[in-house]
Amino acid sequence: MTRRSCAIYVVGIICAHLLIVGIGLVVAQVFRTLMHNRLKKEIVLVEGSRVFESWKKPPPPVYMEFFFFNVTNAKEFENGAKPKVTQVGPYTYREYRYKDNVSMVENGTKVSSVGDPTEDSITTVNIPAWAVMNKLKGSFFKAPMVSLWMSSLGSGFFTTRTVEELLWGYEDPLLARIATTSPDVEKVFGLMYKKNGSNNGEFVYHTGEQNYMDYGRVETWKGQSQLTFWTSDQSNSINGSDGSAFHPLLQKNERIYIFTPDLCRSIYMEFEKDVEVKGIPAYRFTPPRSVLASKEENEANTGFCVSPKECLGTGLLKVSPCRKGAPVVASFPHFYLAENKYVDAIEGMSPERIHHQTFLDLNPTTGVIVRANKRAQINILIEKISGFPKTRTLNETVFPVMFLNESVVIDDASAARVQKLLLIVTLVSNFPLIIVALGAIMLAVFLVLLVRARRQQTAGEEDTSYTPVKDKDKDDPQNGTYIGLTPKVDQ
Ligand SMILES: *[C@@H]1O[C@H](CO)[C@@H](O)[C@H](O)[C@H]1NC(C)=O
Ligand SMILES: *[C@@H]1O[C@H](CO)[C@@H](O)[C@H](O)[C@H]1NC(C)=O
Ligand SMILES: *[C@@H]1O[C@H](CO)[C@@H](O)[C@H](O)[C@H]1NC(C)=O
Ligand SMILES: *[C@@H]1O[C@H](CO)[C@@H](O)[C@H](O)[C@H]1NC(C)=O
Ligand SMILES: *[C@@H]1O[C@H](CO)[C@@H](O)[C@H](O)[C@H]1NC(C)=O
Ligand SMILES: *[C@@H]1O[C@H](CO)[C@@H](O)[C@H](O)[C@H]1NC(C)=O
Repeated sequence: MTRRSCAIYVVGIICAHLLIVGIGLVVAQVFRTLMHNRLKKEIVLVEGSRVFESWKKPPPPVYMEFFFFNVTNAKEFENGAKPKVTQVGPYTYREYRYKDNVSMVENGTKVSSVGDPTEDSITTVNIPAWAVMNKLKGSFFKAPMVSLWMSSLGSGFFTTRTVEELLWGYEDPLLARIATTSPDVEKVFGLMYKKNGSNNGEFVYHTGEQNYMDYGRVETWKGQSQLTFWTSDQSNSINGSDGSAFHPLLQKNERIYIFTPDLCRSIYMEFEKDVEVKGIPAYRFTPPRSVLASKEENEANTGFCVSPKECLGTGLLKVSPCRKGAPVVASFPHFYLAENKYVDAIEGMSPERIHHQTFLDLNPTTGVIVRANKRAQINILIEKISGFPKTRTLNETVFPVMFLNESVVIDDASAARVQKLLLIVTLVSNFPLIIVALGAIMLAVFLVLLVRARRQQTAGEEDTSYTPVKDKDKDDPQNGTYIGLTPKVDQ
């Protein structure tokens, strides 16, 4: 009897303790905080740390798909017609990214190219000619001379080249002619020329050791902590990471900043939706329209409009300040997120979110990139240029040349590692809940024991309280004799 109630009390005490400790831990979130601190410490870029190795040599294969816009009515356009283009592609390359170099290898194994890049020919804007004309805008002596050279060399506003030449470089006759008088001019032109096995300039990164929010953040680029291309400090600031590493414990309401040397500026992305990639939960971040909005729509972008006369509308970024003055305009493919007038000006544009959106799917707990798609288009601004009479017939047009689709998905081995890490984080973070659950089970056991003990006790009392009454009835001598006696007395 005493042993049993003792056991019941022990169970009760343990259960009370478990519940109190468990609920206390849940309320204080001790384990979650511990785990998060651990994550903040673990994810740093120091030699020897686990992330450092994969950061230096990111495991997932990166695919680069190039799409060209083949101009089909170049002659008519020069006479004032609306330009017609057809999209040709993809020409796929596999990209190996190391933190020192980026190299491209022909013909990706995943998606095959539509044709042979060495044979497919594309008619597109003659970029070197437009760059030269822009440079000599209004120049009294040089413009007529170059205009003459262009005629004699047959260098028009458009050119027909193979895909390989356009991407990896060809010797341009006009540039070669100019190079004879000014030797510092590069004779070869290509959209990706010198991008194979080279880097984007030296980056210095934060390790995130002091503050996890700084993990992978770019400190300086080419030795500078500020850019010099634009006209405001805000536009010139180097914000965020280079897009290959993000701090852990991401929030849905935060803006992710990425510095992209291709655009010569920092851009930001905002949360769009929850997604799942290979069983890993992720937040999708995507650049909102305001990133490339005109200065009327978003005042913060005023600094990207270098000279007020040539400001472009929403959805475009003129990157000439960092392209040696060449009239290069960056946008999303097919002018996605841009003003309709740019889409309407070219026949063959059809912006679609699923095909032309840039996005990043990040696992919020670890900051790991599980999937990413970078899509950007290169355009050339075509307009009348003083000193070049042939441009008189042209309307100002943002002319699409090419867009790229750079995509990456986490490989299976890394996905498995992330999943394991997430499982540990979940288990440890929820350890107090396990204690509470254990306490609840003990409580149930305690109550069952208690009720059982109670029932046994009351059952015993009823037994003993019945017997005296019966005994009394039976043993009551008066009652018996009275009954027995009465008839006798009557008779
Ligand atoms: C580009 O268009 C021209 C005609 O304008 C055509 O001859 C050529 O085959 C096209 N190129 C590709 C790769 O389709
Ligand atoms: C060129 O601009 C003029 C004046 O804005 C306009 O009337 C004409 O339709 C334009 N041509 C094309 C091909 O867009
Ligand atoms: C990176 O490129 C330089 C020259 O551009 C070369 O010397 C070096 O070996 C390359 N490094 C790697 C890892 O490919
Ligand atoms: C890029 O460089 C790699 C190795 O340096 C080479 O194998 C590959 O063919 C090059 N790709 C192009 C498109 O030049
Ligand atoms: C690339 O692939 C195309 C078609 O798949 C093929 O014709 C071409 O020869 C390949 N080029 C190289 C360099 O492997
Ligand atoms: C870009 O690449 C991704 C992944 O390979 C693919 O799903 C998507 O269709 C491509 N986009 C376009 C415009 O082809």
